[in-house]
This record gives sequence, structure tokens and C-alpha cells, in this order.
Amino acid sequence: MALKNEILLLYFVCLALTCIDANILENDKYWTNHEQEFDGYWKQRAEIAKNDNLKAYFPDPYEVSGNFTSAISEYVIVLIINVIFKGRIRGAACMATNPIDRCWRCDPNWANNRQKLADCVQGFGRNTIGGKGGKFYVVNDSSDGDLLSPKPGTIRHAVTRTEPLWIIFSRSMVIKLQQELIMASNKTIDGRGFDVQIANGAGITVQFIKNVIIHGIKVYNTVVKTGGMIRDSETHYGFRTQSDGDGISIFGASNIWIDHVSMRNCSDGLIDAIMGSTAITISNGHYTDHNEVMLFGASDSYTGDKIMQITLAFNHYGKRCVQRMPRARHGFVHVVNNDYTHWEMYAIGGSKNPTIISEGNRFIAPENRFAKEITKREYAEESIWKNWQWRSINDEYLNGAFFVQSGAELKNRPFSREDMITAKPGTYVGRLTRFAGVLPCKIGQPC
Ligand SMILES: *[C@@H]1O[C@H](CO)[C@@H](O)[C@H](O)[C@H]1NC(C)=O
Ligand SMILES: *[C@@H]1O[C@H](CO)[C@@H](O)[C@H](O)[C@H]1NC(C)=O
Ligand SMILES: *[C@@H]1O[C@H](CO)[C@@H](O)[C@H](O)[C@H]1NC(C)=O
Ligand SMILES: *[C@@H]1O[C@H](CO)[C@@H](O)[C@H](O)[C@H]1NC(C)=O
Repeated sequence: MALKNEILLLYFVCLALTCIDANILENDKYWTNHEQEFDGYWKQRAEIAKNDNLKAYFPDPYEVSGNFTSAISEYVIVLIINVIFKGRIRGAACMATNPIDRCWRCDPNWANNRQKLADCVQGFGRNTIGGKGGKFYVVNDSSDGDLLSPKPGTIRHAVTRTEPLWIIFSRSMVIKLQQELIMASNKTIDGRGFDVQIANGAGITVQFIKNVIIHGIKVYNTVVKTGGMIRDSETHYGFRTQSDGDGISIFGASNIWIDHVSMRNCSDGLIDAIMGSTAITISNGHYTDHNEVMLFGASDSYTGDKIMQITLAFNHYGKRCVQRMPRARHGFVHVVNNDYTHWEMYAIGGSKNPTIISEGNRFIAPENRFAKEITKREYAEESIWKNWQWRSINDEYLNGAFFVQSGAELKNRPFSREDMITAKPGTYVGRLTRFAGVLPCKIGQPC
């Protein structure tokens, strides 16, 4: 309670000072933290990643979010049929409650058909295939003892391999990472079937790579680590400075899909996407116990984040989440059918003209009458932010929640009848997000 009051006090002091200092610090932090690592090797990787990220970027974002919306609408029709026929239609009794889950969860044979998951992603990350087509790699060892020559069977050995891999686990395990886990391209981490936890150590780094799926794991209590010599791929290791402490840090990377994760209490963001990262879908996650939940774009001055396109769908922002769900800069964020049952300061914020299309979400404001506003603009006068396109379409506001819209109405996209059904969240969001977080899948049964 005392801590909560302190945070609130800090918040109002910040408001009064418009947090200018905090912004400068934030800008510097990412640069100074990472500058030294950018030796020839990482500079080269940054260049390659920049091209990949540009290719992954959709010049017409409305087209993608439009398609996503109609897919959800289709689902709602199935849901209605399901209710009318009480599950008598073959397959209709399955408990998958949203179109991403519906694509795989009802298959009792999912464990022999794991790579099917890669066909299920929607939204901006929809071209992500992770390790599809690659071999399965079974992680059977929870240790993280050797950062330079990781032992075969460990997660660090798996994620640093060159070839595409679909990484699964032989049993439930808690993995305490000694230093950040630096992933290579074309990987899926698939925790289904076991209780896989990345906890009490460093977090996951997705830097200058593409094509990564992270599914069905818990990430919590991650901490800042000192850095040092760490292997980052099969062919290279190098010196890393201190890690940020994020649960999952997406840095100059594209085609990323994070689905059904449960995350809490990481020492920086739960999921941050920065430095021109794009083509990302974050879906079906459950987030609790965290101050700065998701940061998309770390620096007002980094205009490379203009290509950032991120879909947030069917996530549940739950107990003791404070702010940044997300906080965005420059890019385009489609926030669709998420359940915001808790925040303490605000839910969605940003600076530097990000486009935020909030559609069919449920927002339940906290009791604090000073924190009813869903939105928060930073470092700009109203005369500036009034032009930022932040639109709320068919969102549901409860307990006094309100969304301050700005910018042009969303026009150049089709609103069919199905779209209108999607946009009645009060009835649907609870159900669409009912299974957010890690699913207790059992091999041999529908999940
Ligand atoms: C959206 O759907 C239409 C019709 O199904 C298709 O022609 C178009 O290529 C899709 N757009 C994208 C970006 O996937
Ligand atoms: C664990 O996996 C590694 C890599 O596939 C393998 O070499 C090792 O034999 C496995 N250990 C056990 C105990 O299964
Ligand atoms: C990832 O996989 C794709 C398709 O198999 C391949 O073209 C690409 O070179 C791979 N990327 C890396 C960095 O290995
Ligand atoms: C949050 O994580 C930190 C770092 O691991 C840990 O010391 C602290 O006890 C955790 N807090 C809660 C409430 O779990």
C-alpha cells in the first residue's frame, strides 16, 4: 500500500514536471547500454537486420488489421452457432475461444502436430514461422553453466544453433539464466505439455534476428545481469554489456510471435520492442505484478521505429499492472480484444506520434478516481498530440474508464456487418481472453 502511494506520488510529481528528465535518461539508457557492443560484428548484423525488418514491414497497415478483424468476426459467428447448437456440431464443443487458439487447440493430436502452431499467427506477425520445417530439439537440461560452449540439451545450446529448430522440453523445469539468452533466427520455443519457467535470472534477447515464436512458457523475476562473454550464435560469441532486465527484449528484430506466455515481475519491461523492430504479434498473454509492462520504442529521437507494427490481441493485463500496456513511440499498434482488468496509472500511452488503434478491448478502470483515463500522452502539448491518431473503436469502458481519442477517424478500411459484431467487446472479451497465459496442455488431449 505504501509503495502504491509512492508510485502515485511519483506519478503526480512527474506529471507536474512533464517528466522531461526521465525522457532524456531513457534515451541515453538504451544507447549507452548498447553502444559498446556494436563492434564490427554487431554493426554488420544490425545492417542485415535493418533490411529484413524493412522487408517485414507492411506499407499499408490497414490492410493487415482489416484482415485480422474479419477473422475474429468469423469466429464470433461460430461462437453463436456453438451456443445455439450447444456444441452438437462436430468440433464446435472445443473450448478454444479465439481464432488463433481455434486453429490448433482442439486437435487432440497437437503434440504430434506441433509445427501446425506456426500456421495460426495473425496480425502483423502473421508471416512468422519460427522453426517450422526444422528439426525438433528437446531441451532436457535446465542448467545454464557454460555461456561460451553451452552443453547440448540446454536451452542456450538450442537457441544459438544456426539451423531452424522447433525447441521443446522433455519435462517441466525452471531455467535460471546466468546471462541474457541471446537467440538466433528461425526458432520456436514451444513449452506445451510441460511447465517451463524462465525465472530468477536473466531474460530472453531477440536481437537483430528474425522469425521467432515463443509459446507457452512462464517468464518472471528476471533481473539485470552484468554481461560478459556470451555465445550469441553457433559461429560467434562476444562481449555483452549489462542486460536491461527485460523478460523478453526485442531489439531490431522482425517476424516475432509471442503467444500464451505468463509473465510477471521482471526488472525492466515484461516485453520491450525497440530499435526498429517490426512485424510482431503478441497474443494470449497474461501479465501481472509489473510496473512498466510493454515499451514499444525506447527513444523519442529514434525515428527508425516508424516501421514498427505490432498487434496486441487477446492478452489479459491483470493484477498489479501499473502502466505501459503498451507505451509506444513512432510506430503503429493495433490493440484488439484485450482485457484490461487492472492498471494503476494508465493503460495505453505514448509519445512521438504513434498510431494506436484500440478496438474491441475491455477497460476496467481502477478505483482511484485520478487514474480513470486509459490513455496518456507524454512530452507533447495538446496542440501537437491532437494530430496523433489514437482511436477507440467499440471498446468497452467500465468503472469510469475513458479513452481520450485524437487524430483522424479511421476511414480507409471496410466495416462490414461482421466487423460490427467483433466490436461488441463487453460480451466477448472475457471469453476471447479466457485462456490467456500458459495453457496446461496434456499430451494426448485437446489442449
Ligand atoms: C487480406 O485479405 C484479402 C482477401 O482475403 C487478401 O486478398 C489480401 O491479400 C489480404 N491482405 C493481407 C495483407 O494479407
Ligand atoms: C539431452 O539432449 C542432448 C542433446 O540432444 C543429448 O545429447 C543428451 O544425450 C540428452 N541427455 C539425456 C539424459 O537424455
Ligand atoms: C531462416 O530460414 C529461412 C528459410 O528457411 C532462410 O532463408 C534463412 O536464411 C534463415 N535465416 C538464418 C539467419 O539462418
Ligand atoms: C520480483 O523479482 C525480484 C528479482 O528476482 C525478487 O527479488 C522479488 O522478490 C520478486 N518480487 C515478487 C513480489 O515476487
